[in-house]
Amino acid sequence: MRLFSTFAFLFFCLFTNAQTLLSPNKKMEMIFSLSDKGEPQYQLIYKGKNIVKKSSLGFKLKSGADLTSNFVLTNSTTGSVNEKWHPVLGEQKNILNEYNELSVSIKQASENPIELIIHFKLYNEGLGFRYEFPNQKNLNYFIVSEELTQFNLNGNHKAFWIPGEFDSQEYIYNETKLSEIDLSKTYIDNGIFKKDIYSNTMVQSPLMMKSDDNLYINIFEAAVINYPVMHLNVNTTNNTIASYLVPNAIGDKAYLQAPFNTPWRTIMVSDDARDIVGSKMVLNLNEPCKINNTSWIKPVKYVGVWWEMHVGKASWDFSGGQVGSQQQTKVPHGANTANVKRYIDFAAKHKFDGVLVEGWNTGWEDWFGNWKENVFDFVTPYPDFNVKEITEYAKMKGVKMIMHHETSGSAANYERRLDRAFEFMKNNGYDAVKSGYVGRIIPRGEHHDGQTMVNHYNHVAQRAADYKIMINSHESSRPTGVSRTWPNYIAAEAARGNEYNAWSNGNPPSHETILPFTRMLGGAMDYTPGIFEIKMNSYNQNRKEQIHTTLAKQLALYVTLYSPLQMAADLPENYEKHLDAFQFIKDVAVDWDDTKILEAEPGDFLTIVRKTKGKDSWFLGAITDENKRNTEINCSFLTAGKKYKATIYEDAKDAHWELNPKAYSIRNEIVDINSKLNLSLAAGGGTAVSFIQIK
Ligand code: NOJ
Ligand code: CA
Repeated sequence: MRLFSTFAFLFFCLFTNAQTLLSPNKKMEMIFSLSDKGEPQYQLIYKGKNIVKKSSLGFKLKSGADLTSNFVLTNSTTGSVNEKWHPVLGEQKNILNEYNELSVSIKQASENPIELIIHFKLYNEGLGFRYEFPNQKNLNYFIVSEELTQFNLNGNHKAFWIPGEFDSQEYIYNETKLSEIDLSKTYIDNGIFKKDIYSNTMVQSPLMMKSDDNLYINIFEAAVINYPVMHLNVNTTNNTIASYLVPNAIGDKAYLQAPFNTPWRTIMVSDDARDIVGSKMVLNLNEPCKINNTSWIKPVKYVGVWWEMHVGKASWDFSGGQVGSQQQTKVPHGANTANVKRYIDFAAKHKFDGVLVEGWNTGWEDWFGNWKENVFDFVTPYPDFNVKEITEYAKMKGVKMIMHHETSGSAANYERRLDRAFEFMKNNGYDAVKSGYVGRIIPRGEHHDGQTMVNHYNHVAQRAADYKIMINSHESSRPTGVSRTWPNYIAAEAARGNEYNAWSNGNPPSHETILPFTRMLGGAMDYTPGIFEIKMNSYNQNRKEQIHTTLAKQLALYVTLYSPLQMAADLPENYEKHLDAFQFIKDVAVDWDDTKILEAEPGDFLTIVRKTKGKDSWFLGAITDENKRNTEINCSFLTAGKKYKATIYEDAKDAHWELNPKAYSIRNEIVDINSKLNLSLAAGGGTAVSFIQIK
């Protein structure tokens, strides 16, 4: 239902130009105004508190045009929308898209005036706004030198932030006051990317914050299409944040042609942290699905020839070289036909959908660190990887093979070869691909998060849709809800995944409690949970690395980190040792009818329960940071009048992420809608529960 009332330009607009927009529940208010110099400004009020004080809007164009002042209001329209839509794959069957909107048209009072339209959508959980450059006489092709959007915050909030460089989001979150953000004092241990840091107070979004009066505030963006990623430059003396677009090779920000709509800038506010985690605002701000027939887009639970390379047991490179691993000695090539068949057998036996194989194709021997253009051709297997034999074997076993395309950051090479690569996949029965962009980008000088690469990732997803191929990209820019439009872009990495625990300082126990407030707001993540062999010294006694987790927490992550594509990341032989705990990974759904965020606090804990798509079974995940935690869960989410067998996979009494990570126990209870469950989470631990209806 869309109700529009249009107000024509009235001459007194100049004097009464403040426009107010209320959220559907009236708790949030946005005020747009033009200053006496004609500067467009907005502010955001939540329950009477001015969360974002008067903040400016606008652009600087390369032509010299200054689009920050001298504007007059020419028109404004309001409306409200209340509709439901159904994602192809998702956390819930029905998504409510409910907001009030205001669009203001402004025009510069000059000889060759430029016009802008600013669209505001106010949801119950926050504000989205975007700029439109409409069709107009004085603007056709243009180059953005900077977007000048401000977020003038009302306090020195606690912030969960990662450094604002242009090529990677694979960082641990820092937890400091806004005033304490200082990249020069931050340990930046991400070694595989070029690091361009232009300001020591630049951070990435989503930026999650908590105010002294316990409000949760989040700044992000939605629908980043044909535009660079927006970073945030924090003025640490006055809590004002300015947008900073990731530049291209020659320092420009975006090449555009009118009419054009920028991505949405989003600000969420709530006094309940669960509202942020559960928000569907970012998805809602994206366009509806553009794929007509989506029947081929399916959730995928998979295993793969992968972790054995990360732990240093096998190599990607045929000659046994050590790409990515810590060891110096040569090890066997992982992607050999016999080993792949072993994974196919394991997948078939435990009813997994797919098997990923990395290191199957030529090029790995010629890569890593050399900024070379043509490394991989994506179609030539190593001599010990028999594509035909593997394809036939997988088919016979009812398992799908998952392709791997490491591009080595050479987007130029990948685009040239893309159609042949996709044809090769289709000819050999692959309908999903994990792609990767490790290293510096070619075209040289471009950044992972610039406009050129944003266009590349979206192009690949759309071309893949032509071939009915699903995409899971690693090292791409972080998703901004575009999977609503292109649901075959089923997952991405774009944050620091579990793999870092195998070969670096790893991810602290709080990491996974922050991701749902940050990275996950834009879409599903291929985090690769499910590691049971937690200490790397089990592979090599000299290794000190470990996953900062208990085994039970690895199970809980399948629920707390949403993805319709989930890997059981550990080695088959490690699962064989704990088949009782492995049962949870086998049972857990990855596509859902409903989701309830039961408890949430960024950096501390999270409890989520989800209902399986099309079935009355539920799965719960509860995780904690480095502190142990007891909690009581009310089972009121269950269907009234039904009984369920709850299987509780929990940390043993003496479990501890560092001292005793593998200690778990499993118990059963019969529960119904009136039951309560007491959960005890170890330090760095978690609990996973399956609720299966008793017929
Ligand atoms: C980094 C990816 O995140 C990882 O999953 C992959 O195995 C390596 N690149 C090699 O492509
Ligand atoms: Ca990665």
